[in-house]
Amino acid sequence: MNDLTLLRREHTEATQKIAPFTGEGAYHGSTRRRAPSRAATTPALVVDEMVPATLRDYPLDGSRPIADFEATFSNVYAVERTLQIPSQEEVRDDGVVFCWCPLEDAIAEAGPLTGRVLEAMRELVVGDKRFVYVDSKIQYFEPGDVPVDSQHWHVDGSIVARGAAVEALGHRLLHDMKARLTSNRAPPSYLAYQSSDHCATLFLNEPLTLTMPELVPNFDGLDAAIRALDPPWVSQPPASIVRTDGLSLHRATAASGAGWRLWVRVVETDREVQLDTSIIDCYNTVFRLPR
Ligand SMILES: [Fe+2]
Repeated sequence: MNDLTLLRREHTEATQKIAPFTGEGAYHGSTRRRAPSRAATTPALVVDEMVPATLRDYPLDGSRPIADFEATFSNVYAVERTLQIPSQEEVRDDGVVFCWCPLEDAIAEAGPLTGRVLEAMRELVVGDKRFVYVDSKIQYFEPGDVPVDSQHWHVDGSIVARGAAVEALGHRLLHDMKARLTSNRAPPSYLAYQSSDHCATLFLNEPLTLTMPELVPNFDGLDAAIRALDPPWVSQPPASIVRTDGLSLHRATAASGAGWRLWVRVVETDREVQLDTSIIDCYNTVFRLPR
């Protein structure tokens, strides 16, 4: 088993890693180079689920400007289970966190609380994808801290393109939003748990249609468009397991109070991920807004 996929250690308020909130990081859409903490993954092959098909319509000389399209986000969001809300001590003392860890390996290594969450999630796995991975975080927040370095509305598991055609358009990477939103390939699917009521993820739970570029370097424009539309959203209930997919818009929020939170996410995907750099410690950092 790959040691980069789990970290077993004691969590304390004093050793919680804290970084300044910049709003630029945390997602694959970050335009900022952050070596060596940035996710370094070695995709074995480009599976159908992740083909940036839209990019084929753009010549390598960059002469065609990026076109807009009508994007409909289905915003799948369903509360599948609500478990017992754990105590702060149970979260703090759970010990093991995961990063792209295969589900069965994670169940074998998990602390008691994460183990119970993963056992419940295993019953909800669809099983139509090649891989099932676990990410988890145990974080201590002061009021105002953010669990990731962004509060942008975004989708997970977007189709990221790199290479000559992307660079010809002036970017290091582009998310092929049109390919994700219009292809008939099933997107990755997710089960997400968060333990607490002081730093819940926000989700849109009704379909949303807007006009946006086919290819985007980050989620800045999409976030601004959604905030302008101000659609209804829901806050993930404490100790719930929710089902979403790669077309589900969501965002992090700043903690409303102090305390520990366990976050667990299971992804079903055809994309094989093998970490070649340790990102798990960075992954469990909290981000502090200027005070
Ligand atoms: Fe996300």
